Amino acid sequence: MAIKYELIKECKQSGGRLGKLHTPHGIIETPIFMPVGTQATVKTMTPEELKEIKSQIILSNTYHLYLRPGHKLIERAGGLHRFMNWDGPILTDSGGFQVFSLGALRKITEEGVEFRSHLDGSKHFISPEKAVEIQNSLGSDILMVFDECAPFPADRQYVKNSLERTTRWAKRCKEAHKNTDRQALFGIIQGGMYGDLRKQSLNELIELDFPGYAVGGLSVGEPKPLMYEVLEYTTPFMPKHKPRYLMGVGSPDCLIEGVIRGIDMFDCVLPSRIGRNGTAMTSEGKIVIKNAVHTEAFQPLDPQCDCYTCKNYSRSYLRHLFKANEVLGLRLLTYHNLYFLLKLMDEVRQAIKEDRLLDYKNQFFRKYGYT
Ligand code: GUN
Ligand code: ZN
Repeated sequence: MAIKYELIKECKQSGGRLGKLHTPHGIIETPIFMPVGTQATVKTMTPEELKEIKSQIILSNTYHLYLRPGHKLIERAGGLHRFMNWDGPILTDSGGFQVFSLGALRKITEEGVEFRSHLDGSKHFISPEKAVEIQNSLGSDILMVFDECAPFPADRQYVKNSLERTTRWAKRCKEAHKNTDRQALFGIIQGGMYGDLRKQSLNELIELDFPGYAVGGLSVGEPKPLMYEVLEYTTPFMPKHKPRYLMGVGSPDCLIEGVIRGIDMFDCVLPSRIGRNGTAMTSEGKIVIKNAVHTEAFQPLDPQCDCYTCKNYSRSYLRHLFKANEVLGLRLLTYHNLYFLLKLMDEVRQAIKEDRLLDYKNQFFRKYGYT
């Protein structure tokens, strides 16, 4: 077994789970947020900086690395960890989601997905077996099955067909997976916004006995209360002693609400992407650094934050960097936003330990400006 999940305790106030996930590249304290490093780099951040802000695991993408520089090259380089100089745990997404996002550039059949590269238009085919082969070459600690994520909204029959295909593909992925002692393959629950289909998907995947399960097909444009509802009729039926990963979710409110509904792992491009766009998450809500109000604001981004950016630079200086298109601005805001979310998760773990996660949520939401 490549990984082992240890459930340490459940918060008496909220039901949130505190756990430890043992992987070949270290132990992860859960619940955790995973910074996204799509192209074998968390944009603008060195691995040393990721360690500094206490990233415990990062995510990378099969689709992008397969197209460029190629998974075989990464295998020859000694695997993804060695190639990118990150010795902590890595989770790779299967490419399913990315390929489906290509729209007109792809064609789905039972065998797999044919698509054209977003880089040069060249033709490719990824099957469940191929997605696993690529991730075996990359050597990630956790790999994901090749799934089909239904759009929102989608009618019941469409969603049912796609979840049943996802199960058949999950079975093929499991049969193709070679490196089970060093890499753990997670199943992905689909089923859209339909409670009974979520249950069907989960039951079919449990039958296949994966070491961990993800909830996919959420954060695809549905209202947040609907996403919370879907979680409420999914997570209570997920295996208690295996990790649960909510894919593509990463705003502060969704992280906390997800943990309260029993989720252990999250990933999202949001903090790094909005950081590069000049938006910072702070304990008092989001701020847009280019706004004129920050012209002579000589205080830090977030006076409550003790990250490198906030200890050393003013809003005024950061605004100047963004106005002048200086690359340091992108780095400093990315650094702060990732630090902010990782610290939020640290506080969430502490609150679970002390059975006060609902109190923590209320206090955080009030300050952040969520209603
Ligand atoms: N990332 C966000 N949502 C999904 C999903 O449904 N499937 C996969 N593979 N990745 C995702
Ligand atoms: Zn900061």
